[in-house]
Amino acid sequence: MPKVNVTIDGKQIQAEAGSSVLEAAQAAGVAIPTLCHHPALKPEGNCRMCLVEVERQRNLQASCVFPVSEGMVVHTHSPKVMEARKFVLELLLSDHPTDCMTCEATGDCVLQDLAYQYDAKVGKYYGGAKHDYAIDDTNPFFVRDYNKCILCRRCVRACDQINGVEALGVAERGFSSQIIAGLGGTMEESRCEFCGMCVEVCPTGALMPVGTMKQGRYWEFKHTTTVCPYCGVGCNLDVLSKGDKIIRTRSAWDKAPNYGWTCVKGRFGLDFVNNPNRFTTPLIKRDGQFVEASWDEALDLVADKLSAIALEHGPDAVGFLASAKCTNEENYLMMKLARGVVGTNNVDHCARL
Ligand code: FES
Repeated sequence: MPKVNVTIDGKQIQAEAGSSVLEAAQAAGVAIPTLCHHPALKPEGNCRMCLVEVERQRNLQASCVFPVSEGMVVHTHSPKVMEARKFVLELLLSDHPTDCMTCEATGDCVLQDLAYQYDAKVGKYYGGAKHDYAIDDTNPFFVRDYNKCILCRRCVRACDQINGVEALGVAERGFSSQIIAGLGGTMEESRCEFCGMCVEVCPTGALMPVGTMKQGRYWEFKHTTTVCPYCGVGCNLDVLSKGDKIIRTRSAWDKAPNYGWTCVKGRFGLDFVNNPNRFTTPLIKRDGQFVEASWDEALDLVADKLSAIALEHGPDAVGFLASAKCTNEENYLMMKLARGVVGTNNVDHCARL
């Protein structure tokens, strides 16, 4: 890839031709604040938080969509830039609920962090019209509170560019602009698959998973990168927990094979771990009733029954069905048990059926 020489905040760097000023700055270790930008999505340049001063350009430029060019000189934190970013934030805050004390996104809200960083005043532009959207909590997975939406369109782009579903869009124009699902109804009425990518990329509290409500503050959660226990794809997840309870699934963006994408089960289905109805000990049927047993008792019973069937009717009277939820090693051991111990080739896998 050809390079161009660029100066960012006095630092001379070589940036890839065609890359944006934001990408070049990040590669050089210069932080530029963003709101609508997300590394997994195509940049749109609609929030103007990433404004920078580019010499010989009349206006400030949105660095996420402005390409570098040979000899370009960029100032990312000049007084003019800082003032413009603060203005952007104060306009956003002029129509934003100020319930940070009780908002579920506190501690995980880009808008809140930037408002603090830029000392943006909440009430500076009070007096204008304010939105008063009804909160949509009609689906079991996430709550939509568009009073907290900043119209960054991350959710719309994630649904389109990551999941390929296009369930979300923007209706109306100007102050009336609003994110809608389908033709403006509930999520269930749209094409939504509830993969939760929109929730994952939302930079405010406009989209919040139901399972995290009143479960604690973001900084209280422990992050664990782990493999999803559902199908055999083996997606990596960033699981948030508090104590021994799983609270939420976030995207592990840099991990194969899913690189942040999840389906509805991985995103919202891990609450089964803490379900009180879950079996925690083997059950053996005695006199027509299931009773709790130790693992030794249960495994001995299974071994005795399988041996008896194989001895009486031959090994092929027994079959083994493995699971995509198991690891490769566990499935391999199941195959060894079938072929090496019992002596049958009747072994299969649920993902092949
Ligand atoms: Fe560049 Fe929003 S981050 S315009």
